[in-house]
Amino acid sequence: MHAFIYFKVLKESLRLAPPVVAIQRNNTEDLIVNGVKIPAGSNIELNNYALSRDQRFWDEPETFKPERFKAETNRNPYAYFPFALGPRVCIGQHFAMIEAKVIMSKIFQAFNFSLVPGVELRCINDMTLQPLDKTPLYLTLRKGDN
Ligand code: HEM
Repeated sequence: MHAFIYFKVLKESLRLAPPVVAIQRNNTEDLIVNGVKIPAGSNIELNNYALSRDQRFWDEPETFKPERFKAETNRNPYAYFPFALGPRVCIGQHFAMIEAKVIMSKIFQAFNFSLVPGVELRCINDMTLQPLDKTPLYLTLRKGDN
């Protein structure tokens, strides 16, 4: 798999299964959003998981489609923030992306993966989004790639 594909797969994974499901912010001034007044000092939750499933921003939101992360896009830049945005953005985001790509390239060069039939991948939000159950997989060695 080409490195750019890893990048898109990773971004799509972070869209459908954002490790940080939501972030919270307090507004310092009164806000009016879509005609709704939000008084200063409110606790506002910005939910990544819900936004990723919003058809206003994503075509077939529940479908895993890494190709949606092509370079040129006119998507709203605030529709995707697995590492948050603004002054308190994750300081480790570039490190995390590089680390994940290195790990993916190592394991995907060595193995093919498939879910054991009948196994459903279910998640729970426990500070971070995590697998709810054990997720048994079949691993087969990729021949001739190592
Ligand atoms: C896939 C991996 C990661 C994800 C999805 C992630 C996501 C986030 C998010 C959403 C925030 C904002 C939290 C908030 O404001 O409530 C955050 C903050 C932060 N992250 Fe990450 N992070 C990841 C990896 C890392 C790594 C590897 C490091 C350090 C090497 C790191 C260090 C930090 C720090 C220090 C903050 C606080 C920044 C601040 O408040 O000024 N993160 N991260």
